[in-house]
Amino acid sequence: MGQPRFVACGRLTRVRAFTRRDVDRWLAWPRHPDRLYSSYDPTPMDGSLRDAWYDDLVHRQAQLPFAIEDLGRQLIGRMFLRHVRRREGSSVLGMDLDPRFIGQGYGTDALEAFLGYYFGPARFRKMYLSVGAYNVRARRSYERCGFQHVRTHWQDLKCEAHVLDDPRYADLRHLFRIGPRGLETLMQDMVASVR
Ligand SMILES: CC(C)(COP(=O)(O)OP(=O)(O)OC[C@H]1O[C@@H](n2cnc3c(N)ncnc32)[C@H](O)[C@@H]1OP(=O)(O)O)[C@@H](O)C(=O)NCCC(=O)NCCS
Repeated sequence: MGQPRFVACGRLTRVRAFTRRDVDRWLAWPRHPDRLYSSYDPTPMDGSLRDAWYDDLVHRQAQLPFAIEDLGRQLIGRMFLRHVRRREGSSVLGMDLDPRFIGQGYGTDALEAFLGYYFGPARFRKMYLSVGAYNVRARRSYERCGFQHVRTHWQDLKCEAHVLDDPRYADLRHLFRIGPRGLETLMQDMVASVR
């Protein structure tokens, strides 16, 4: 296997374009043990659906997907730039890691490195994202990478955890409510700007 073109290199991770073959690698990730994060589980798909999923992402939605590797060349995470507005120099970040690699510094390392590319050679000026207020780990990671809070909003949430009655989520319960379509969660909108 030839060496891919990495766009960013951190202390623990490297980032490159996400390819169709990475869809297969992503689908081999395990489910999240904490069902609060069940919406980030890989979606089971057969071969032709995988082709269609990738094609839709890249061509119809025009997202820019990136793969996060550890230094052993394993796919451990994904980053997506959505709603790319070249003229404004902005996009909206989505990001997730293989659950086996969560909470060990990989996400922050990859995002810090990626922002160097994004605001540097890629010449973007703003990066937006929305994160669940309950997702303390992600919020801390984003704050560490220089993101600032701009506003909050409520959003529908599909998840398998019983957040309103499971005592394990008691401390987070105030960040959820039942809306007209079911469970909603408080989201924080954040932005990082070119330094
Ligand atoms: C969000 C995500 C990419 C962050 O990457 P990560 O590698 O897990 O995060 P890190 O290990 O770098 O930790 C980030 C911060 O959270 C803290 N943290 C780690 N585990 C934590 C936990 N269980 N609760 C609270 N904080 C925690 C870390 O100490 C660190 O803070 P610090 O720098 O102040 O010490 C990753 O957790 C993930 O993919 N989560 C599931 C999908 C998801 O939530 N995506 C985000 C959508 S907006």
